[in-house]
Amino acid sequence: VNTVNTSMVHYLPYFIKGVEYTALISVLASIFGVILGVTLALLRFSKSKLLRGISISYTEFVRGTPLMVQVMFVYFGIGLIVNIPALLSGIIAVSLNSGAYVAEIIRGGINSVAEGQSEAAASLGLSKSDMMRFVVLPQAFKNIWPALGNEFISLIKESSIVSIIGVTDLIYQANIVRADTYRGVMPIFVAMIIYFIITFALTRLLNYYEGKMKHAG
Ligand code: ARG
Repeated sequence: VNTVNTSMVHYLPYFIKGVEYTALISVLASIFGVILGVTLALLRFSKSKLLRGISISYTEFVRGTPLMVQVMFVYFGIGLIVNIPALLSGIIAVSLNSGAYVAEIIRGGINSVAEGQSEAAASLGLSKSDMMRFVVLPQAFKNIWPALGNEFISLIKESSIVSIIGVTDLIYQANIVRADTYRGVMPIFVAMIIYFIITFALTRLLNYYEGKMKHAG
């Protein structure tokens, strides 16, 4: 008789591999997303109407289309020209997506600083760049930081969509375990708990640093 080991503990290495890929995509997309987001935010505040237009259009378009479609578009679109691994496509798509959200977070943070602050800085004779550096950005950062933290947590959860192009992330691995064990629900539940442990721990960590920043004044 052919018996299958259906214990979730037995499949732990599968889940660990999934977590590794999920973490890799989330970390890299967070880094590239912030770089892209800062760039888009700078363009957004530029004097050139064209650059502002490019930044606004990009942000609107990316936020107005599903990440799932973007992931498929990047994978199959780039695939027409060169064959790149699904993992790389996934990282590119999630980064491009996150950049738009980060740009909005930065813009919102800067706009949240009361206008009187820059007026006061100007009346003290501060140059535009000094005003940004010493008055607006330090205050904006207090709003930007918690929102960025939320974005990182969103990325961990949203990255699960890359499983549809075959990236072996946590959800993809959970589906393999489902097929292997004939257990339809348990592997999904395990994946769910793992996601929760990661996001819960990260939330605590981010709150800790947020609290520290408040005391820094
Ligand atoms: N799931 C939504 C979508 O498909 C939200 C994506 C959120 N992305 C982000 N970087 N926060 O568009």
